[in-house]
Amino acid sequence: MKICYLPGDGIGPEIMAQALRVLDILAADGIKIEREEGLLGGAAVDAAGSPYPESTQKLARAADAVLLAAVGGPKWDVLERPLRPERGLLGIRKDLNLFANLRPAILYPELANASSLKPEIVSGLDILIVRELTGDIYFGEPRGIALENGKRVGRNTMIYSEDEIRRIARVAFEAARKRSRKLCSVDKMNVLETTQLWRDVVIEVSADYPDVELSHMLVDNAAMQLVRAPKQFDVMVTGNMFGDILSDEASMLTGSIGMLPSASLDEKNKGMFEPCHGSAPDIAGKNLANPLAMILSTAMMFRYSFADEATAARIETAVKAVLASGLRTGDIYEADTRRVSCSEMGDAVVANLKR
Ligand code: IPM
Ligand code: MG
Repeated sequence: MKICYLPGDGIGPEIMAQALRVLDILAADGIKIEREEGLLGGAAVDAAGSPYPESTQKLARAADAVLLAAVGGPKWDVLERPLRPERGLLGIRKDLNLFANLRPAILYPELANASSLKPEIVSGLDILIVRELTGDIYFGEPRGIALENGKRVGRNTMIYSEDEIRRIARVAFEAARKRSRKLCSVDKMNVLETTQLWRDVVIEVSADYPDVELSHMLVDNAAMQLVRAPKQFDVMVTGNMFGDILSDEASMLTGSIGMLPSASLDEKNKGMFEPCHGSAPDIAGKNLANPLAMILSTAMMFRYSFADEATAARIETAVKAVLASGLRTGDIYEADTRRVSCSEMGDAVVANLKR
C-alpha cells in the first residue's frame, strides 16, 4: 500500500505529524505502508508556484490513497483565484475523480456536553452525510465576474447531469444498506430545476434498493431539522454546495468540528482522507489543535481504501479510550477533564495503540 500525504497549511503539519505516528505504530505491527510527502495549498504556492503542482499530481495519481490535513490561510487570500489554496483542494478532488464525500457525524458519549445543543437532543447521534463532491455550482460553467453594460455581474452555474446524480445516489443507497436502511435525499426542487432532476433520478435509482426507505427533504427544512431533531436522520445524500453547508452544521451537533473525519472516494474506492475542519490559522504552530479528526481520517482510509476494517476499528477504539480517560484539547475541553496539547493527544493515542 502506497500513500501520499499532504500536510498543507496552518495546523495541517501539526495534526499530520500525529497521524504519521499512528502509521508508525501500525508499521511496527507489520502493516506496511509506503509513504511520500507532497505539497498542496498555500505551502505548494510558496514552494512551487501552484496550489496543486505537477509533482503532487504525479504522487497523488500513483498512490493507493491520499491523506490530507488542511489548506488555506489569510496569507494567500489576496492571491488571484487560480492560485488560492482552496483551488488546490478542488483541483485534487476533480483530478482524482473523488465524487463521493462521506462525512460521518458521530457523538462520542463523553462529549455530549461539548455540543451547543442539549445532551438529550444529540446523545447517541450517528449520521452519515454523503455529499457529491465534483459537480454542482462549485465547478459549473459559465462562472466569473464580468462587466456588463458598465455594471459588474457575478455568475455561477448550478449544474448536474443524470449520470453524476445516479452514481452518488448509488453510493448513498449502498451506505444506507450497511446501516439502518434509511436514506434522506436533500434538494431544493420547489425552486431549482437542477435539483428537480436530482430528486427524479434518486427516485429512479431507488427502484434498485427496495429494502432502503427513501425520503426527501428541502434543504432549508433539513437545516432546521438538523438542529431540531437530528436523530431522525441516518444517511443523508445531497449535492456539493448543500452538503458543504449541512456537514458543517452537523459537525457542531457532535461538539466540535475538530472531531470529524471524512472520506472522498472515486468509483474504485481510491480515496482522499481529510478532517472536515480547516487550517485554523489562529492556532497554527501553537501545538493546540485537535489531531483526532486527522487520526480518525486515517482510520477511514483503512476502512474504505484498504478494506481493512480491523485496523480502522483499532484506531477508532484507541481514540475512544483516550476520550474516556478524560484527555481533551482546547476545542472539546470542559470542567473535570484534562486539557492537553496536540502532541500530547497524539502521545495518548499512540500509547493506547501499543497496548
Ligand atoms: C470543505 C471545505 C471546502 C469546500 C473549501 C475549503 C473549498 O469547506 O471541504 O467542506 O467548500 O468543499
Ligand atoms: Mg466546508
